[in-house]
Amino acid sequence: MTAKRATDLRDQLRHHAYRYYVLDEPEISDAEYDGLLHELLALEEADPTLVTPDSPTQRVGIAVGDLFVEVTHRARMFSLDNAETGEDLAAWEGRLERQLGRIPSGYACEPKIDGLAISLTYEDGSLTRGATRGDGATGEDVTANIRTVSQIPLALMGSEHPSVMEVRGEVYMSDAAFEDLNRSQAEAGERLFVNPRNAAAGSLRQKDSAVTASRRLGLWVYQLGMAEVGPPQTSHTGTLEWLGSTGLPVNPESRHFDDLAGVVSYVESMERRRHDLGYQTDGVVIKVDDLAEQAELGYTAKSPRWAIAYKFPPEERTTILKAIKVNVGRTGAVTPYAVLEPVFVGGATVTNATLHNADEVARKDVRVGDTVVVRRAGDVIPEVVGPVPSLRSGSEKKWRMPKRCPFCGNPIVRTEGEAVARCTGGFECPSRLREHLFHFAGRGGMDIEHLGFKTVDLLLSEGLIHDAADLFSLDAKDLLGREGWGEVSVGNLMAAIDAARDRPLARVITALGIPLVGGTMARLLARRFRSLDALVAASEAELADLEGVGPEIALSVVEWGADSANRGLVAKLAKAGVRLSDPEPEGVDTALLAGVTVVLTGTLEGLSRDAARAAIEDRGGKVTGSVSGRTSAVVEGANPGSKLAKAETLGVPVLDEAGFALMLEEGLSD
Ligand code: IVH
Repeated sequence: MTAKRATDLRDQLRHHAYRYYVLDEPEISDAEYDGLLHELLALEEADPTLVTPDSPTQRVGIAVGDLFVEVTHRARMFSLDNAETGEDLAAWEGRLERQLGRIPSGYACEPKIDGLAISLTYEDGSLTRGATRGDGATGEDVTANIRTVSQIPLALMGSEHPSVMEVRGEVYMSDAAFEDLNRSQAEAGERLFVNPRNAAAGSLRQKDSAVTASRRLGLWVYQLGMAEVGPPQTSHTGTLEWLGSTGLPVNPESRHFDDLAGVVSYVESMERRRHDLGYQTDGVVIKVDDLAEQAELGYTAKSPRWAIAYKFPPEERTTILKAIKVNVGRTGAVTPYAVLEPVFVGGATVTNATLHNADEVARKDVRVGDTVVVRRAGDVIPEVVGPVPSLRSGSEKKWRMPKRCPFCGNPIVRTEGEAVARCTGGFECPSRLREHLFHFAGRGGMDIEHLGFKTVDLLLSEGLIHDAADLFSLDAKDLLGREGWGEVSVGNLMAAIDAARDRPLARVITALGIPLVGGTMARLLARRFRSLDALVAASEAELADLEGVGPEIALSVVEWGADSANRGLVAKLAKAGVRLSDPEPEGVDTALLAGVTVVLTGTLEGLSRDAARAAIEDRGGKVTGSVSGRTSAVVEGANPGSKLAKAETLGVPVLDEAGFALMLEEGLSD
């Protein structure tokens, strides 16, 4: 009776583990699963003869004696030829056509998983061996560790199994598991893993399989190595389907295409979606789908002729780190960056990559002269992932934060407990000044069109400006006639600068770049103080008393205002005719829109975005950028964006301009 119940429990647990780990569609709760598992554990504990090696209770703690012993693969594990362009794929099809005497009848496509190849042996349906690829002929026995991977069934589902079957697939670590792992490594002060592939490889080579078990590895099976009698399949797609039916995880992104055009569009779509899959892929594997055609095509010494790997442009490459230099930002923060031997990575040539801060350089132990891994993925700024210590010659040099700023020569200091070092040169520092001016003129600040980095650099290097206030006394004559500067471009720039004299106070405050004061905080301060003079005169206590202003921000504002250079700049801006105050809202009920949250979309006829926002905020309302269940109303101007559709789906009231005007007069009726 107990034996029957134990078998029954094992079957149920296998079924639910498959639903959970492989299909990601659990049918029962975690607690119910644990209940079944505990019942089985109790039965097995009471009568150890009931334990079977493939019982779900036996994942961790199996004898590790044979771990890492060399094993010979039953059939060689081949590698793949690569393709990098559509032409490469067409050339491959040309070779296939020549050999077969016809174009193959169809192709199977799968993501190429960036993990490590593994061979799994099942005997009479039970997992008996897991081995790494090694050199293709022999690998290492990692059975004890492989058994801890929840996605890998210890026993196959169904009742008819080949007496011996070997399957191949890729063990990988998901992006989420990788991030969690590195977070806990960092917390424990341990070395971080460079990427998910290295983390997966390291996790599989653990002496203690409990460690592997904690690493949340995954598997996608992509090939049947051999099977001593199995269901007759005529295609790779059919084989994958059959493997899936035994409970092995098969990638749901696998597809069949009748021709190469379908393959090419799959490759393109996979490349676009590669960062949304939740695990790393480095290409697409394309296989001739028909097994008879595969057999006819056969193998070269290295790889099957019937398959090819289309490789995406690599997002990680190694190169030489030639030097470490520093940038000084608009707040004086000094950040190190790597100067690299140019390398083509993630679709672009990279010559510089960020190193974040001095602690990061030390933690990663990157040294000048090192071969380093450089990463550039999607829109992410290129970064140095880490060094390749095995390639060191001994002549590499450790880096230290310079004592003096390379731009102005003033000391660089780092306050205890802060991650960033700062240049103490203030606006004397040309790098800091340049970044400050760029921020001042930028979209979040005074929004001066036509004043980008190049123009800021020109004005500075020609000595036409020395600070932000000088922009307002710029003489058109000084620019006219310079390369790229004709009547029209100079006129545009002068008009844009002139318009910036009349920006709302909140923009001025943001543009000045007070540490910790961003756009939202600047609007709050502008509403409360109405002029820059009043803001600078405010005491720390007065500031900290304001709702939404913490003690750190209060201190930062007071320190900024106490700095004579900043005071000088404010006085100069006032003299240059820049409006440094907002008019008192006349006859406005400052609580009319209390608790009301508004989203603006499209262009309003009579009112700029800034003015519309100010009108709402003057009445105590809030303006946010995206529509949610908490939005009170959406104001629709000309050419509204997707926010309108969102408002309609969520049932948020939509106001036209007349409705908006009414709301400013009378508030929002429920
Ligand atoms: S098929 C004989 N399919 O790529 C064909 N390989 O460069 C065997 N890989 O060592 C390979 N994802 O580790 C195949 N969907 C996939 C794959 C895949 C990743 C790896 C595999 C192999 C390497 C070949």
